[in-house]
Amino acid sequence: MAGKIPQPFIDELLSRIDIVDIINPRVSLRKAGKEFTACCPFHDEKTPSFTVSQQKQFYHCFGCGVHGNALSFLMEFEHAGFVDAVEDLAGIAGLEVPREQPTPGEEGRLASNKGLYELLERAVKFYRSQLVQHPQSHAAVDYLKQRGLSGEIAREYELGYAPPGWDNLHSALKVPPSDLIDSGLLIEKDNGGSYDRFRDRVMFPIRDARGRVVGFGGRVLGDETPKYLNSPETSVFHKGRELYGLFQARKSVRKLDRLIVVEGYMDVVALAQFGIRNCVATLGTSTTQEHLERMFRIVDEVVFCFDGDRAGREAAERALNNALEVMREGWQLRFMFVPDGDDPDSLVRREGSTAFEQRVEKAQEFSGFFYEVLSKQVDISSVSGRARLVDLARPLLEKLRSGVLRQMMQDELARVAQIDSTRLNSLLGEMKKSLPVTENTAKGWQSLSLVRRALLLLLNVPSLAQKAGESERFRSLPLPGIPLLCEVLLVLSENPEMSAGALVEHWRDHDNWRHLVRLMNAPVVVPQDGIEEEFDGVLLRLDAMLSEQRVDELRNKQQLSDQEKKEFLGLLSGLQNR
Ligand code: CTP
Ligand code: MN
Repeated sequence: MAGKIPQPFIDELLSRIDIVDIINPRVSLRKAGKEFTACCPFHDEKTPSFTVSQQKQFYHCFGCGVHGNALSFLMEFEHAGFVDAVEDLAGIAGLEVPREQPTPGEEGRLASNKGLYELLERAVKFYRSQLVQHPQSHAAVDYLKQRGLSGEIAREYELGYAPPGWDNLHSALKVPPSDLIDSGLLIEKDNGGSYDRFRDRVMFPIRDARGRVVGFGGRVLGDETPKYLNSPETSVFHKGRELYGLFQARKSVRKLDRLIVVEGYMDVVALAQFGIRNCVATLGTSTTQEHLERMFRIVDEVVFCFDGDRAGREAAERALNNALEVMREGWQLRFMFVPDGDDPDSLVRREGSTAFEQRVEKAQEFSGFFYEVLSKQVDISSVSGRARLVDLARPLLEKLRSGVLRQMMQDELARVAQIDSTRLNSLLGEMKKSLPVTENTAKGWQSLSLVRRALLLLLNVPSLAQKAGESERFRSLPLPGIPLLCEVLLVLSENPEMSAGALVEHWRDHDNWRHLVRLMNAPVVVPQDGIEEEFDGVLLRLDAMLSEQRVDELRNKQQLSDQEKKEFLGLLSGLQNR
């Protein structure tokens, strides 16, 4: 792990950049008096309630309540992690991000990684130049043409050609073979010496999400095997982490909301050529949990597009399995299959992009696919088959770490297995109690705002809403999230039996859904003991705030009526007695 980024640096960074320069390229701002305004990028609206103050270097949305500085804006807008956002800002400010006391070994590694990136970048240039210049490159060019690739798309994806021969890179790049070995471009011989890994292949440079070249895939021009060679794992290349095409997708689509995961390099490039630019491919591995986490930091929806053959089906089931442990509410994970015998590359060339997009629209939901896979293993038409289905589902559902998502999946199971939910619950028996996260990653419960605590408690035990009484009274409190809390209380008081999963569904495609889902995903452990008392406490505090608010209001009045005086004194003694 790299050392921490020192806080003074972050202060310095924020003082050097202008929030307007950060926001404006992403959300076009209009000057309005001293401030700037725009339609809020974080919720749907038609009239602008998003404001940016250059003076305060702060943004705030009066509609949905988001606010923060340039750094939090980048994190929210780009779905970037803290470190990535700091690095992006530092890049803009022209500053190097310092780290607190890295260990000596780490320092060495970072320095050499920098060299590796540079070397790999030079290799991209070399392979590209060979595609144009090498005496035998016509075979590669012909191959790409015959595959239907345009020159434009080949340039955009920086396709190149590794010429035949064993010693091209070293003689062209003139760097020590050991560095080329570290980069994965050369293979070391047992008896010393080394040779080019990629020979007579079309080269696909693989860039990481930040655009650095980390490795290559190389395809033969004919039917020889292996069809593809990939860079080996190096200190900058980890197959289980990288996604081919992610960098290009982020670059060409201003606001990505969906990623399509295909199986091959060629699929990504072909789809891009047909204008479907939100595709990525894993690098000959199945989709890992890290891949999923990565993608869902960027988008809310990921569609897996698998080949229609048996291998594709199996890959889909592996992906489904990998997804179970990391799945969260709000992650829309869907599955689609191209017809047997096709892959996305051949399909889009045959059917065109509109037909392909239509197939994507029709991709199957996670839970639907999940139960489809399981149902195939039993005779769903018989009672015993459906009981077996429950047995099969149980260990898988247990993998889900989110209680709400699990409840939603369980509800679906009840439907598929035609069992009523109460009976299903007893059939499933005592499943492991799940909490969103473990204690040690949890934020302190008490450090959460009152409103968030109230919402989290309600999501865990919806029936608590009965305790709140007339919930509209809270609406005047100037706290972020109050409108949402009032609406949740209202819905729950009208539907006392509603589960949290159903509650969230209530607002699908609505802003509240996003807020609730985010809240449920927050790394917080809701105290399981004394949950009612906790909720009572929160209500008391909210009511006290209402009283305080009213006291202030009355205090600031010039004249109080008799009744108001009585109210004022009553409130004061109420507050003192607390
Ligand atoms: N793959 C690999 N090694 C192989 C075969 C495949 O690493 N020997 C990986 C590559 O990342 C490849 C992906 O698996 O892109 C999918 O394989 P395939 O469907 O055969 O590749 P396509 O990209 O469709 O290749 P092409 O259309 O050129 O045959
Ligand atoms: Mn293919």
